[in-house]
Amino acid sequence: MGGIEISDGLKRKLRSAEWVTAFTGAGISAESGVPTFRGEDGLWKKFKPEELANFGAFMRNPELVWEWYAYRRELIGKTQPNAGHLALAQMEHRYPHMAVITQNVDNLHRRAGSTVVHELHGNIERNYCTGCGKYVSEDFMARQTSAPKCPNCRGLIRPDVVWFGEMLPVDEWNKSVSTAERADVLFVIGTSAIVYPAASLPVIAKRAGAYVVEINIERTEFSSEADEVLLGPSASILPQILECANKEG
Ligand code: OAD
Repeated sequence: MGGIEISDGLKRKLRSAEWVTAFTGAGISAESGVPTFRGEDGLWKKFKPEELANFGAFMRNPELVWEWYAYRRELIGKTQPNAGHLALAQMEHRYPHMAVITQNVDNLHRRAGSTVVHELHGNIERNYCTGCGKYVSEDFMARQTSAPKCPNCRGLIRPDVVWFGEMLPVDEWNKSVSTAERADVLFVIGTSAIVYPAASLPVIAKRAGAYVVEINIERTEFSSEADEVLLGPSASILPQILECANKEG
């Protein structure tokens, strides 16, 4: 993709902003090779969320749910952060308050070098016991085959991700809300913006005065509320925004 036109309005915001926040969804990792959930090739076209991403289903058939998570963990493990993740990580050097709020569980923001990351839907690399609540190590998980049991209490181990019907982690949510409320500029990147409560963050930011810029390959339910919509792949657009921010700095 060629260069995008960055409006004078956005240039001014990039110049004056101190608090910059990125709210990301599966689309930012698409160019790393992680499938999105919705759309033509989306995971939810091939798999049923009610059989794989809810606690009742897990208790009924832990082997099936673990097979799905083992498949995703392996797939994610082979991927690398792309230019979009890396550009956001670089923005920490440009802005005194740069944060990422993500719905993704793939850990690619941290692997790209972002240090302030609020994970609203958990992290596929962490696992804990449904019985005693203790986290287990990656080494322990690497030795397991299917539906691992806790080495302390023999309870079922589950991935530390948020399933349908579950609450978001309270601390991550509270930090995300206050980050969104403080943002001078909020980027909404690669999300269909339809899964709540996460999808309310761009609206919270806008009401609190943020300049909200959506980056997506297509328009979404949120587009009409954004101050600007930049259409195109985030791995192309974010490096251009970083370059502009550094120039305006
Ligand atoms: P979706 O799969 O719903 O949406 C992905 C978005 O990324 C779409 O709007 C695409 O147009 C856009 N997209 C795809 N490729 C892109 C690219 N290269 N650059 C920019 N945008 C691109 O994913 P999410 O919005 O993240 O929840 O889904 C939200 C939640 O629904 C997920 O966290 C997950 C799922 O059920 C849980 O697991 C709790």
